Amino acid sequence: MTDTWLVAGGAGYIGAHVVRSLQAAGIGAVVIDDLSTGSSDRVRVPFVRGDIGNVDLVTDVLRQHEITGVIQLAADKQVAESMTEPLTYYHRNVVNLMQLLTAMARAEVDRLVFSSSAAVYGMVEAALVTEDHPTRPINPYGETKLVGEWLIRDQARATGLRFAALRYFNVAGTAAPELADLGRTNLIPMVFDALDRGEQPVIFGCDYPTPDGTCVRDFIHVEDLADAHVAAIAALDSPGAAQVFNVGCGRGYSVREVIETVAEVAGLSIEPRPSDPRPGDPAMVVADTEHISTALGWRPRHDLREMVRSAWHARSPQLSAAQG
Ligand code: UFG
Repeated sequence: MTDTWLVAGGAGYIGAHVVRSLQAAGIGAVVIDDLSTGSSDRVRVPFVRGDIGNVDLVTDVLRQHEITGVIQLAADKQVAESMTEPLTYYHRNVVNLMQLLTAMARAEVDRLVFSSSAAVYGMVEAALVTEDHPTRPINPYGETKLVGEWLIRDQARATGLRFAALRYFNVAGTAAPELADLGRTNLIPMVFDALDRGEQPVIFGCDYPTPDGTCVRDFIHVEDLADAHVAAIAALDSPGAAQVFNVGCGRGYSVREVIETVAEVAGLSIEPRPSDPRPGDPAMVVADTEHISTALGWRPRHDLREMVRSAWHARSPQLSAAQG
């Protein structure tokens, strides 16, 4: 029987890259997406416009397309928005996940890859975060992802559902300009936007206990992240599969280093402006990637420069072509 996976949220930035990786691996894909933030232009596989909270619809889709497993990325992901709209986040990230699990149980689909986040850790104390680091999220977004993991774990215990929860670190880059991130709330797009406005980018906090005083993050190319989903699917062949994985590069870059990389790639001289720390930012969040590399044989292939380069090319193909 051919494997066909339902990619919930497959019209989004990360979801569209996941579909691309599935296709490259010879795995069939069907997308369901409500297009609240995604774009149907990104979808080149059977597509259902709809809400994963609609149990009848999702059950029908699972049965009709003889779906073997679900990759769940249909969720809201902006930390700041989650602080002002917690009910929306609990509804879309938790209630809708319950509905999706209900539809999966009805249609007897027993495999799930769940998009979780490093936001479940909250204020990180270790130099490298392992999956058993305490989970104390500091915003509703991280809380909904953690509750999502609990829901899935409990459903797995009760029903034999096999799952992998992937805790994404800082996702960046693009595999193709048409799949690029349209969101403007993360560091790299915000640096690009400042440059577009003719301004210098802002660094939120320069007195952190880090080598250059700016926050350190683990950036992961979206193409590598998408491939991790395919690796996770393979692991679900084992009965009782129930695992949580960090998905990062295992190497930290400071905000200042990221901005320097943008300057190199763009061929611009950039003098970032120091500003007050952004409330709630941990100084350093870097993944320990031992578990995913040992258990799944997955390793990232792209470095920060490739992330910045691909994002920069996607944003201004003519300008970046002229600059080589
Ligand atoms: N930053 C700046 N200037 C900017 C924008 C960001 O200095 O103009 C800094 C932030 O203060 C932070 C770092 O760049 O120190 C990274 O910020 P992002 O907003 O890009 O990413 P976060 O690490 O805050 O959050 C990301 C995802 C979340 C996820 C989290 C998990 O956006 O969804 O990683 O660790 F929850």
